Amino acid sequence: MLSPYLSSLVQRASQDVKTIVLPEGEDERVLQAAYLAVQNNVAKPIVLGNPIQIKDFFAKKGWSLDGIEVIEPEKSEHLAEYTNLLFELRKAKGMSEDEAQKTALNYNYFGTLMMKAGHADGMVSGANHSTADTVRPALQIIKSKNPNMGVSSFFIMVSSGKPFILSDCGLVIKPSEKELADIAVTAATSAVMFGIEPTVAMLSYSTKGSGKGEDAEKVRAATALALETLKTEPYNKLNIKIDGELQADAALDMTVASKKAPQSEVAGNARVLIVPDLNTGNISYKLLQRLGGCEAYGPILQGLNAPINDLSRGALVEDILGTIAITAIQAQNK
Ligand SMILES: CC(C)(COP(=O)(O)OP(=O)(O)OC[C@H]1O[C@@H](n2cnc3c(N)ncnc32)[C@H](O)[C@@H]1OP(=O)(O)O)[C@@H](O)C(=O)NCCC(=O)NCCS
Repeated sequence: MLSPYLSSLVQRASQDVKTIVLPEGEDERVLQAAYLAVQNNVAKPIVLGNPIQIKDFFAKKGWSLDGIEVIEPEKSEHLAEYTNLLFELRKAKGMSEDEAQKTALNYNYFGTLMMKAGHADGMVSGANHSTADTVRPALQIIKSKNPNMGVSSFFIMVSSGKPFILSDCGLVIKPSEKELADIAVTAATSAVMFGIEPTVAMLSYSTKGSGKGEDAEKVRAATALALETLKTEPYNKLNIKIDGELQADAALDMTVASKKAPQSEVAGNARVLIVPDLNTGNISYKLLQRLGGCEAYGPILQGLNAPINDLSRGALVEDILGTIAITAIQAQNK
């Protein structure tokens, strides 16, 4: 049974069906999600793995494999092309032809190279891989869309049916002021993509100078940098509002906001919450999910040239389906 928010994502994804690679065909949860993706018209899945085992799994379930392409990278007619592509892209970084041959057979690299070659629109992996193993090929091969901004990540947190963006909870460990500003602006564009109002709060333990210390000053400086970026294209056309530094209660609660930051257009109305570092982000999303009862979708990478997303290793089938839908929506809006 899909939550109303997940159903809305599935509905959006089905309006323009994209091809999504799932490199972890050995995982039954991934196969079930691929099946559901076809049944709900969310995506055309390409599953990487052993065709005999995958056919066997579907036969045992009594499910049709129609609509799912299965590719065994070792036997792919495109392996030489992808190996060469990888070598050309990475030789300046010291990759040898031998290494390229081995690396192209790593399924996360193979899936990423399929995207680079234009044979797939997006990829979802991580049910059996660490974030770093899923994300590194994306950073090396697909790269940042805006060369002046890094890639970061966000979660969509749904509280009582209302979606919020929380960023960065998954990628940039200790952002500099500039990186924090870029995370805020990129998260605002992700909000626009997902129909969430881009009112962005730069969170801290201090509201507008109420607390002292260099961490609060850093958030204040990052806010100023982000506001400068908002004056430039394409951000100046998106009606993004950013303010900081704000405490979480001032960001979310109008009564607190009217006391602590009465002039702010964001305080009390924030829908995009920017945390100062990965410790805060990762802890916050897990607390909201485990204690606050929020639905959590992510980490979703933002700022890449084409969408690749990571799963938690504890992901349930519905989480994988949700991530496939999110990836497809990102591919529609790339
Ligand atoms: C993502 C991560 C793995 C990258 O680490 P890494 O592989 O050691 O990164 P490196 O510094 O060697 O960079 C690898 C490549 O990615 C690029 N890169 C790294 N971070 C990047 C970013 N934020 N945006 C864009 N590119 C980035 C580097 O420029 C480099 O590219 P190049 O090889 O073409 O020069 C690292 O940031 C990380 O571990 N983050 C935390 C992940 C995590 O544990 N999350 C919590 C669980 S959700």
